[in-house]
Amino acid sequence: MKAALYRGAGKAAEVLHVEEVGRPEPGPGEVLVRVYASGVNPTDYKARSGAVPRPIDDFQIPHHDGAGVIEAVGSGVDPGRVGQRVWLYLAAADRRWGTAAEWTAVPERHAVPLPDGVSFEVGASLGVPAMTAHYCLFCDGPVTGQTILVAGGAGAVGHFAIELAKRAGARVVTTVSSSEKAALAEKAGADLVVNYRLPDAVDQVKAFGPIDRVAEVALGANLKLDLAVVKPLATIVTYAAEAADPVLPVRACMSANVTLRFVLLYGMPAAALEQAAADITTALAAGDRIGLPVHKFPLSDIAAAHEAAESGAVGKVIVTP
Ligand SMILES: NC(=O)c1ccc[n+]([C@@H]2O[C@H](COP(=O)([O-])OP(=O)(O)OC[C@H]3O[C@@H](n4cnc5c(N)ncnc54)[C@H](OP(=O)(O)O)[C@@H]3O)[C@@H](O)[C@H]2O)c1
Repeated sequence: MKAALYRGAGKAAEVLHVEEVGRPEPGPGEVLVRVYASGVNPTDYKARSGAVPRPIDDFQIPHHDGAGVIEAVGSGVDPGRVGQRVWLYLAAADRRWGTAAEWTAVPERHAVPLPDGVSFEVGASLGVPAMTAHYCLFCDGPVTGQTILVAGGAGAVGHFAIELAKRAGARVVTTVSSSEKAALAEKAGADLVVNYRLPDAVDQVKAFGPIDRVAEVALGANLKLDLAVVKPLATIVTYAAEAADPVLPVRACMSANVTLRFVLLYGMPAAALEQAAADITTALAAGDRIGLPVHKFPLSDIAAAHEAAESGAVGKVIVTP
């Protein structure tokens, strides 16, 4: 099969190649999936560049997220799954078979039925960002009736945090840095969108109401704003590391009686992953759609796809093997 892969970490154009490699066999409990769309996430290019090093077993086909059709199943898997359209998550976690290839093999629970009418591009946009957003919102229980601040509502995780929080019956305010991004966050369903570069951003968020929970993409940059708008006993959930770690204003955090929580997809409990997959699929079946722009690249342009994602393309970068 044709696969994009790298054998050592480095710049996209230097280490990513398309090669012919043997197709993976689905092992016990696994499914073989013909991949039609493969989603690029920051974690994929950070592993490839070496910014967040991961061990490489001879070669690494990148990308956790994808969508396609099950073509074969390993032992212990219901053969009735053959022919099923699926979206994939964590395909490349501790294995070389990422989704940037014509086929991948994944544990069967990582291949989630894709509802009829939902495109492979949408299916390939879900895994990393939507599951992370789900855990940020619900890892302490339901958020129905709560007021949520989603920092960076035009980002991929931010987008799904808005959609999932609204579905769960929360009020949602989000921050963005431009009118273009504001339009995307509005489309995702945010009740209020605030440009965080404006001098009255804090006042605007405050006026929306005291915040119960923050899904935070930039703790250091935003902690001052967060502390100014949260209600006592609120939770700030951080899912992204900034270039430099922030200095923690301990007294201000104590005064706010705030809980700081940190989330990493790779450490999500299995039950939380399965709940996230189920809830995301229910949202898709009910008609929720990713409203972010999609930038498509053929497999042969894998390096350009990574470069686009790394340079901050707004929306989802999708490779089509
Ligand atoms: N912990 C995990 O398991 C996990 C899972 C997924 C992603 N992540 C990490 O989360 C980050 C975002 O991922 P993504 O896929 O959502 O990326 P993305 O689609 O590029 O979105 C990032 C968003 O953050 C916004 N942003 C940056 N600085 C901000 C600030 N100070 N205040 C508010 N918004 C800000 C950006 O918009 P502006 O630049 O216009 O503000 C952009 O919309 C990455 O670092 C990624 O590695 C971690």
